[in-house]
Amino acid sequence: MNNFNIDKECFRKEFFEKNLLHMKSCLDPARYDWEDFGNDFFSIEPGLGTVRLYRDGRVDRQVYQHAAQNNEEVGFKFDEASFANILNNGGSMVVNRFEKSSRYVAALCRELSDYSGHATVGNAYATKGGTGTFGKHWDSHCVFAVQLIGKKHWTVFRPTVDLPLSTQNGFAKAPPTDTEMVFDGILEAGDVLYIPRGWWHAVNPLADQPSLHIAVGIHTPKVLDYLKWVLIHKMSANKEFRETMALTRLDAGSMAQACELLTSSSTSSETFEEYLNALNISLSEKPYIDFDSIFK
Ligand SMILES: [Fe+2]
Repeated sequence: MNNFNIDKECFRKEFFEKNLLHMKSCLDPARYDWEDFGNDFFSIEPGLGTVRLYRDGRVDRQVYQHAAQNNEEVGFKFDEASFANILNNGGSMVVNRFEKSSRYVAALCRELSDYSGHATVGNAYATKGGTGTFGKHWDSHCVFAVQLIGKKHWTVFRPTVDLPLSTQNGFAKAPPTDTEMVFDGILEAGDVLYIPRGWWHAVNPLADQPSLHIAVGIHTPKVLDYLKWVLIHKMSANKEFRETMALTRLDAGSMAQACELLTSSSTSSETFEEYLNALNISLSEKPYIDFDSIFK
């Protein structure tokens, strides 16, 4: 569907987790407009908390969604006037996991999964001016920023922590003043910007310029995740891992013996195959039922 400027083998070898990549005009900007966004947004359940509004920080949810009751059913309703007020006055909106509501974004995520070789999810960012949702920060997962509508200004800087994990929070650290800026430009509708995890970035709306972009996050298993999985799913079969640990002194011999068992299991191709199968059982991809072919 989309025309990436670099083929996937080259992307995986040269750019994935290594380098920033700006790809111009990958998508047809005419394929998705604000009406499509409104239609996709319509299916979002307000009570789930996937929609967040920001203006000088996060707006309290009670401002833009109200409790509603219909006979026995109690739920929430979005308040149309509050959305208009916040978004018309420099606010911005984030819709987490938008691929669950939008077939178009689900297809985009699937395509970027195939491109990167890893699972992806898509969060939507909509704004028409103001000072941006977040300040300069880094994320612990790589992101394809896909500009669907309008334009947005991005600056990207080299990382100060290599390949950070989600336990290392990129918002809590002081932004660097001396790290090299590698990108300072405008993303236009149809463009894609790949930002490796850990790279600092700041995203700013242009004055009175509407913008909708999807941050397609790449979620990868890390070595740590694999070893944790092996520990949990494989090691309890060994008596050495089930023994009570003495707290009076470190029994280095027993630890070394347990680590040997961990090494032998984690380096076996059978264990690795089993892990890959467990990863493939995923709830993230919704099926699309082709009723046209069923009923026509
Ligand atoms: Fe980010």
